[in-house]
Amino acid sequence: MTGKRTLAETEFDVQYMKKYGSLMAQGNGYLGMRAANEEAYTEQTRGLYIAGIYNKAGAGEASDLVNLPDLAGMRIKIDGTVFSLLDGEICYYRRQLDLSGGELRRQILWKNREGARFHLLFQRFVSKADLHVLASKVTITSLDKDAEVEVASGIDAQQTNFGRQHLAERAVRVFDEEVMMGSYETGESGHRIAAAAIFRCDKRAVRSFTAKNRQLLQTVKLKIEDGKPYEFEKISALYTSLDRDLEGQEPEEACVLKGREAAKAGYKALFAASSAEWQAFWQRKQVKIASRDPFDQFALDFALYHLEIMAPSHDERFSVGAKGLTGEGYKGHVFWDSEIFILPFHLFTEPETARKLLRYRYLKLEGAKGKAAQNGYEGALFPWESAFSGREETPEFAAINIRTGERQRVASPLAEHHIAADIAYATVQYYEATTDEAFMKKEGLALLKETARFWISRATDEGGRLSLKDVIGPDEYTEHVDNNAFTNHMAHYNVKQALRFMAQFGEEEEAFKRRAEDFLDRLYLPEADREGLIPQDDTFLSLPEIDLAKYKEHQGSQGILLDYSRKEVNDMQILKQADVVMLLYLFPDLVPPETALRNLEYYEYRTIHDSSLSKAIHAIVAVRCGQAESAYRFFQEACEIDLGPDPNSSDEGLHSAALGALWLVTVFGFANIRAGGGVLSLAPKLPEQWTELAFPLVYRGRRLELVLSHEKLSFTKLSGPSMRISVSGEEFLLEDRLEITTVQLEGK
Ligand code: BGC
Repeated sequence: MTGKRTLAETEFDVQYMKKYGSLMAQGNGYLGMRAANEEAYTEQTRGLYIAGIYNKAGAGEASDLVNLPDLAGMRIKIDGTVFSLLDGEICYYRRQLDLSGGELRRQILWKNREGARFHLLFQRFVSKADLHVLASKVTITSLDKDAEVEVASGIDAQQTNFGRQHLAERAVRVFDEEVMMGSYETGESGHRIAAAAIFRCDKRAVRSFTAKNRQLLQTVKLKIEDGKPYEFEKISALYTSLDRDLEGQEPEEACVLKGREAAKAGYKALFAASSAEWQAFWQRKQVKIASRDPFDQFALDFALYHLEIMAPSHDERFSVGAKGLTGEGYKGHVFWDSEIFILPFHLFTEPETARKLLRYRYLKLEGAKGKAAQNGYEGALFPWESAFSGREETPEFAAINIRTGERQRVASPLAEHHIAADIAYATVQYYEATTDEAFMKKEGLALLKETARFWISRATDEGGRLSLKDVIGPDEYTEHVDNNAFTNHMAHYNVKQALRFMAQFGEEEEAFKRRAEDFLDRLYLPEADREGLIPQDDTFLSLPEIDLAKYKEHQGSQGILLDYSRKEVNDMQILKQADVVMLLYLFPDLVPPETALRNLEYYEYRTIHDSSLSKAIHAIVAVRCGQAESAYRFFQEACEIDLGPDPNSSDEGLHSAALGALWLVTVFGFANIRAGGGVLSLAPKLPEQWTELAFPLVYRGRRLELVLSHEKLSFTKLSGPSMRISVSGEEFLLEDRLEITTVQLEGK
């Protein structure tokens, strides 16, 4: 399904509609649009989302990322027959998303029931040059006869979030027999969204407008001559009341103005401007892999394309959802995925975006303090799932037992508290990579201090030793345990770093310092036992085991929960995802490599990888243990999470964290980069299948380019002062360019 920097679908298959709807989604961080086909099919889900536009459909419900009025749909009639690929005959079909320029194209040769052939070319993009603009175009050529074509399209507010309607229609208008405008408002959150759409086509076309049942449509009718292509362009613009660039206008005015201006430029010019932005993106950020398997390069390009379009780098009030802006899975909520899996790509390519992602948490500190207080703790406990308000957004209940009607309460908001330390970890990582003192003094310190206060108040004194009881670590198949190794180590790090930065900025508070030091002295930190195993929690290693082969074969499907209750799974040695392995990833020096390997092997055997966050982390730890080949296997399996053949994966949106993790594997895994402690260090271990790995890195005010192969490593500093760099334990001075052969390194 892959070609050179294009993701292609070469066969029309309704089974894959939802999946490709996510995979081929387009966006610009402000808005995201699923790749639903222009014409209607019951199997597809349309989706248009704007970062930050959430709403609760009813009291007691969690916020949804609102599915906005659709702008992509088109009903096309040719000689009185509605065009559909389920009718007539498909003689040629190809849909492709061009990652390099961001355009989605669909080319179809279609024969109607009467045997007349038509060529249709659909094109569309979401502008990277102007966040508010999107454009589409269909070019229709009749190949056997003159024909009558009718194209109807506009602003369709019949969309829902799985049946939940969030929007009230405030107004629909047509200005100057040209510009369609719809204005809507979310019920509970009170955000206003306005869309404008303008059609451009042959002047001879007969135009009419209708507004009915939440659809504002324009229909254009045109006689087309045999063999001559006819273009129908639709240019749209969107604004919301949350936008910071309204410049005193109402969203309704702003979108009409923008729509008119964009329509004047037309599809071609708008696309040229957008694709130039994409070229610049690839030039600055692409990871290049010379591999025996071209899929590796493609998977990284795919990941970076999506990492870019999911990041609301225009506005720090929003962060990245678990599905980006590609679908309604997890209701568009923000998890630890954002700080631990997605943020590093931005941090090391565009630190300003990483800063904004952390500012998002800073701006939500009040909500986090509220959650801590409600649960009887001090400081700040960030919500497990977050949206716009900063309050806990995790739905209270998950699956329902339809026989008993009983609902399963979601435990994560009650006990998956490592989120607080994950945010603290990312805060320190940001500082280490940027030395941004202004941020650290204000936002960074506040984040570290308040989360540290939370941990200190959360500990339980058990005969002198402090424990963190009743938590859930990253492995969500093991709930309500005591002393989860990941959580305890992360909490310890969190408090230690709060003390470090308070001292660094002369902000020490005696009372806090005393409590923090006591916490650090007495918190129990699970260590490797006599067999070299770090116990995942107090009881895990004593639990019974079962053969997981059957479930590992269908990883990602959570099939085990069909055979066993949650309680039964909880009482066995079964992991959903990396937990101790996650800890080893974040703290590479915690144990020697042979102990890391022992833990990797022990826990991996018991891990189903039912979470998409798991595989890539195993790859990184495997590389660091010298297992480049098994790391490569994990890496390729991680690439398949969205890109694999399973039609049901990714139907509700892409796995944002898993995409971020592919970048982590190349940079923190195979290149084995470490950026903590003031010196950039690396110890690359490329898989045998790769001959070269090249990527850019922004580090402490320098822009670097690294090219690594099995024989040599070269570093080019494009900007910033000279710096020291540590390669496999040896320090070098990087002025402008540095080349080191591996022979040279071995000789030292
Ligand atoms: C994982 C979490 C993750 C969430 C959102 C869950 O299945 O267990 O670790 O944060 O998905 O991606």
